[in-house]
Amino acid sequence: MFFRKKKKIDIENQEVEVINEPFNTYGLSDLLHFIKREIGVDLFPKKAIIETRIRLFCEEKNINSFRKLFDEIQYNKEMKQDLVNLLTVNETYFYRELIQLQEAIEFAKTREGVDVLCAPCASGEEVYTISMMLEEDHTFRKRFNIIGIDINSEAIQKAKNGIYNARSLHKLSDNLKEKYFTLVSDKYQIKKEKFLHVDFSQINVFDDKFLSFGKFDIIFSRNMLIYFDEDFRIKAMQKFSKLLKEGGRIYLGHADIVPENEYLQKHGFGSSCYYTKK
Ligand SMILES: C[S@@+](CC[C@H](N)C(=O)[O-])C[C@H]1O[C@@H](n2cnc3c(N)ncnc32)[C@H](O)[C@@H]1O
Repeated sequence: MFFRKKKKIDIENQEVEVINEPFNTYGLSDLLHFIKREIGVDLFPKKAIIETRIRLFCEEKNINSFRKLFDEIQYNKEMKQDLVNLLTVNETYFYRELIQLQEAIEFAKTREGVDVLCAPCASGEEVYTISMMLEEDHTFRKRFNIIGIDINSEAIQKAKNGIYNARSLHKLSDNLKEKYFTLVSDKYQIKKEKFLHVDFSQINVFDDKFLSFGKFDIIFSRNMLIYFDEDFRIKAMQKFSKLLKEGGRIYLGHADIVPENEYLQKHGFGSSCYYTKK
């Protein structure tokens, strides 16, 4: 049982009385089930850590039980989004898992033009990386478009702003940094004119609207399925299969293990593994 301090202010005497009001932990499981149903992220394996994180969130918002938070997010969209932002892990950086990206670029060369989806893109580094790789490859001179989506609204805002710290760029050569970024005090701002073919949207992959995003030659879904259980991994793969063009490919992160399913066929192994529509 946690306790929350409540301030009571007497306006006439300007006295502040502090009352210890118990924080009611009832309702956490309902909350975690709701998150899982809505966005796929399975927080049950990390329940202890998550409990503390959500309790602090509640305290900040003056909510004194998990049950009340659960009720609130049924109709309060802003509160729900804040909670989703808190509970999603947005770790990413430029040129992450590079060998796989290079293989995908080779595949891109075999297509007429290339439409790429990064779902999820977190704060955008993966999207900008692919754009830079296509620009830098002088044997690739075709039309391309890259769309990045993520459920985390703060991450998508960061992607649109395109301002990164040095840690995000640690794999980039000085040449690339100079060509594609402007150094503003200690931050790197992307040169927007160099990235005219990228776009970002905030959306949940399980939202029906996600299927209206178009059709893609290449879909990257790296380091998201790892947070889902098997059922949700397959549900996500079903969505992706619907967004794939004929002959298109899906690339997952190395840790994103997907069970056998009726939608996609696995090819290769290790870093050269990709999926096509069955
Ligand atoms: C670790 S990041 C991966 C970013 C990038 N693809 C990479 O590999 O570097 C995982 C992202 O998945 C997003 N995510 C989790 N569930 C999602 C969902 N249902 N729909 C869209 N994005 C989701 C999170 O917000 C987070 O930004």
